[in-house]
Amino acid sequence: MEKLTVTAAVQARISTRAFRDTPVDGALIRQILTTARYAPSGGNVQPWTIHVLGGEVLARFKATMQDKLATGEPEEGEEYAIYPPNLFEPHRSRRWQCGEDMYGTMGIERADKPARLNFVAGNFQFWNAPVAMFFCIDRRMGAPQWSDMGMLIQTTMLLAQEAGLATCAQEAWTRWHRTVGEFLALPPELMLFCGVAIGYADETHPANKLRTARAPLDEVASFRGI
Ligand SMILES: Cc1cc2nc3c(=O)[nH]c(=O)nc-3n(C[C@H](O)[C@H](O)[C@H](O)COP(=O)(O)O)c2cc1C
Repeated sequence: MEKLTVTAAVQARISTRAFRDTPVDGALIRQILTTARYAPSGGNVQPWTIHVLGGEVLARFKATMQDKLATGEPEEGEEYAIYPPNLFEPHRSRRWQCGEDMYGTMGIERADKPARLNFVAGNFQFWNAPVAMFFCIDRRMGAPQWSDMGMLIQTTMLLAQEAGLATCAQEAWTRWHRTVGEFLALPPELMLFCGVAIGYADETHPANKLRTARAPLDEVASFRGI
């Protein structure tokens, strides 16, 4: 199979929210992360720790989460603010549109809160993905290192794309940070940033039909002397 160009991988990657049961070869995941380690970080500090779950271990974790959701156990609160309070324009509208488009694709009415919540709960089964990653960072690290971690995550997702896999980054996991921390036996200095679901996409699922828009280039970039 011919390899994707970087451009093609960037264009093909989407947040996949329905996966097939098809297992993923652990060696492939190791290969992806082996290469992803070459993501840049300021001062090459590599401020990340990655925890990968699959097979029986992931099944056990998913069962723990299923129990919590089924019994209505309250979420644990965000360990960091996913969005700033009172998200402002133009970002607020972009976020709203993303939700509208997502529920529209799924045929879920905005007013149908139970259906929306039920869909979002799929986050906590990794959208049925057979492999899960948790990306963690030392609490002493600051914004620049969090940005470094973004580089690692996107590099991982693009390499996964090249390998024929699909992904979904999931900061929603911060709402269950205690459960994740206990399961992974994270030392107190490590903080969960996000999960990444990884596996083979269920191409037939409506959730995977969504293609999100982007602001026009001239709205987000300015050019001088070029
Ligand atoms: C760091 C990060 C965290 C995200 N967390 C979630 C999440 O918890 N649940 C989810 O369904 N999507 C999540 N997303 C996906 C975004 O909603 C998605 O990237 C955005 O809408 C653009 O769509 P695309 O990824 O399909 O291009 C996350 C994306 C990033 C980069």
